[in-house]
Parts: sequence; C-alpha cells; structure tokens
Amino acid sequence: MSTGTAGTEEVRRLNDELERQVRELDAFAYSVSHDLRAPLRSLEGFSQILIEEHSGRLDAEGQRYLERIQANVERMAEMIDALLDLSRATRSQLRRERTDLTALAREVASELVASDPARGVRFEIAEGLVAPGDPHLIRLVLQNLLGNAFKFTARRVAAVIAVGVEDQDGVDVFVVSDNGAGFEMGHAERMFDPFQRLHATGEFEGTGVGLAIVRRIVTRHGGRITADGSPGEGAAIRFSLAPGPSGWTIR
Ligand SMILES: Nc1ncnc2c1ncn2[C@@H]1O[C@H](COP(=O)(O)OP(=O)(O)O)[C@@H](O)[C@H]1O
Ligand SMILES: [Mg+2]
Repeated sequence: MSTGTAGTEEVRRLNDELERQVRELDAFAYSVSHDLRAPLRSLEGFSQILIEEHSGRLDAEGQRYLERIQANVERMAEMIDALLDLSRATRSQLRRERTDLTALAREVASELVASDPARGVRFEIAEGLVAPGDPHLIRLVLQNLLGNAFKFTARRVAAVIAVGVEDQDGVDVFVVSDNGAGFEMGHAERMFDPFQRLHATGEFEGTGVGLAIVRRIVTRHGGRITADGSPGEGAAIRFSLAPGPSGWTIR
C-alpha cells in the first residue's frame, strides 16, 4: 500500500517546515541580540562618564548605585554575547568527519589548566574516543562540558574530571564526569535551557547558556544528552552524536 510512502513524505515535509521555522526564529534572535548591543554600549559609556566626571557631586550611596548599574550592564552584555554564540552554534553548516574526541578533550583540558595554573585537577581522558561529527562544534561541546566540570570542582581539594565512553545498545555514549558541587536531580532538565542556572552567580560565575549550546549541537548531530548529579558529589553529562534505536534514550 502507498500510505506508508505518503506518511514518510508528510513527515519529511513537516520536518523541513519545522527546520525552516527554527532557522527563522534563530535569525530573529540573532538580529535582536545584535541590535541590543548598541543601546547597551551607550548606557555603558554614559555611566562611565558619570563616574569619571561627575562622581564628586554624588554621595557614597549614589556612587554605589552607579557601580551597580555598571555591573548589571556588563552582565547583560555577557548574556547578549552568549545568545549570539548560541545562535552561531545552530547556523553554521554541519560537517561530518572522523573526529578525535580524545585529542580535543586533551587540548581543552590543557587550556583550562593554563587559565588557572594554581588549581590541582586530575584529568582522566580515555584513549581512542572517536565519532563522526563536526570537529568545531564538538570542540565547543567539550569546552563547555569540561569548562563546567572545571568550574564546579573549584572548591574540591582532589578534583577529578573524567572523559570516557559507554556502549548503550550499540550506540557510543560519551560521558564527562566530575566530583564537584553537583546538583539536585529534580532540576536536571532545566539546566539545558538558556539562562537557567542551578547555582547562584555569587557562588559560581556564568551566564547559563553553555549547556543550551551543547544540547543544540548534540541534537543537530541526531544525538541525545542527559545529566546526572547529586549535591556535593559531582555530576555526569552523557551525550551521543548519532541516532540510537527507535525510542532509545540514554540510560
Ligand atoms: N559539572 C557540573 N556540576 C554541577 N552543576 C553543573 C555542572 N554543569 C552544569 N551545571 C549546572 O547547570 C547550569 C547551567 O550550565 P551552563 O549552561 O553551562 O551555564 P553556566 O556554566 O554559565 O552556569 C549551571 O549554572 C549549573 O548550575
Ligand atoms: Mg557553562
């Protein structure tokens, strides 16, 4: 019967339509973020002039408010830049080639160590991690996941960050784990949404867009991503870069 074929065509059409709409939304987010930069720069400039040339006319409380304005302007600028990064991760053409995740993870790890040489962190990166995927985007995935692991182990004396692979129903599932601050499992889904953070900015810095970027890259590859953690004991992020059997989700 031909209904099977018609069904497949219909799914393909809907899929194309959905992709077109995502691209459109993304172009919109990109141009809005871009346009928000100009008024923000003006805010930054004028508050700087106020501080430099008129602060004598402000009492201590007024000066404190001005500093708070500046700190918030800076935070908003970081958020806008993060949104632009998120949009770039979706817009670039996806390439598929043999990607060496072991080599990429080692590079990223040494960059992190160089960024804060005083920290003693042990990296355990498995040999022979490879996947067909886009090397630039996969590097971005590892930068974000290892960056998080590095950040959330900052208070750990013997910090250990591991990168490995598990076979689940014939699918390679990559795992980035750490023994850092961890999180409440009840919030695990939320952490992949833009600007969602489970830790206070005062405790750990960040804009909350990294995992949203990671999830987009993983889904663009046809893969899936999950997070496991427990407060005070660490976190493990698992992701695949290719579709699994139908109905399959990462254990
Ligand atoms: N390795 C980790 N350990 C504990 N919590 C994590 C880890 N990775 C991510 N999270 C939680 O998920 C949130 C979102 O992560 P992310 O999108 O990378 O944002 P950011 O790093 O800017 O805070 C973090 O703020 C944190 O609460
Ligand atoms: Mg992050």
